[in-house]
Amino acid sequence: MKLSICPAAAGAAEAAALIVAQQLAAKPESVLGLPTGRTSLGIYEEIVRLHAAGRADFSRAHTCNLDEFIGLTSRDRRSYCAFMEKHLFRRVNIPPSHVHFLNGQAEDVDGECLRYERLIDSLGGIDLQLLGVGANGHIGFNEPGRALRARTHRATLTRGTRRSNTGLFSGRLRAVPREALSMGMATILEASAIVLVAMGRTKAKAVQSLFTGRVSTASPVSFLQLHPDVHVIVDRAAAAKLPQSLRELSPGPPATVEVL
Ligand code: GLP
Repeated sequence: MKLSICPAAAGAAEAAALIVAQQLAAKPESVLGLPTGRTSLGIYEEIVRLHAAGRADFSRAHTCNLDEFIGLTSRDRRSYCAFMEKHLFRRVNIPPSHVHFLNGQAEDVDGECLRYERLIDSLGGIDLQLLGVGANGHIGFNEPGRALRARTHRATLTRGTRRSNTGLFSGRLRAVPREALSMGMATILEASAIVLVAMGRTKAKAVQSLFTGRVSTASPVSFLQLHPDVHVIVDRAAAAKLPQSLRELSPGPPATVEVL
């Protein structure tokens, strides 16, 4: 795994956006796996800036979002689909037919999950999967538990995860759906490359679990240790619980170290 520790959140967002731009330059028809959440806001802002500067061309790219709430229409402004439209898709040159989402309103949930898996396959797989992480170590909506699901599935959200999503629901926990559709762990781990971004001290424990050497369903993010091409980009606060030896490697501007 590669680790970059940035002095501040803005630097982490910039570093991740640059990797996306480089991916598009190297392979214009890339398939990007994309997350939602506050962490992604700064990254999308920076990608939009790079696009405006002619440094990120989405005309041939495809995107597959990680997850979506069950029960909201794609037009619902609280859906992840609407979030992506607002913060990224309508601000870059991606053809609407290249944007792919799980349908949280599908009647046949299993059929919808299978459709998404087949779609990703038919696109040739995900070239670059961008990830955030929940404070409890969830990725996508793969919550900690006794077992994790490999493939795209219907997920029950923990109270903590629902609470961290209240921002989209005017702060009202009761309005946050209890279920969602999410790519599974294997779906995520099959991406050719993974970039995970974590900012702020609430993520320090999850980041620590990524580097402690133990792979456990108690922290789904720890499974990224099994992937051969993962770049973890964090700010100082999210790096706070990493071993001193790793943290010392980052005085000044982003320091990238090879870990493992
Ligand atoms: C949600 C999403 C995750 C995301 C997480 C972190 O639960 N399903 O994919 O990584 O939020 O969100 P934030 O960046 O707002 O902390």
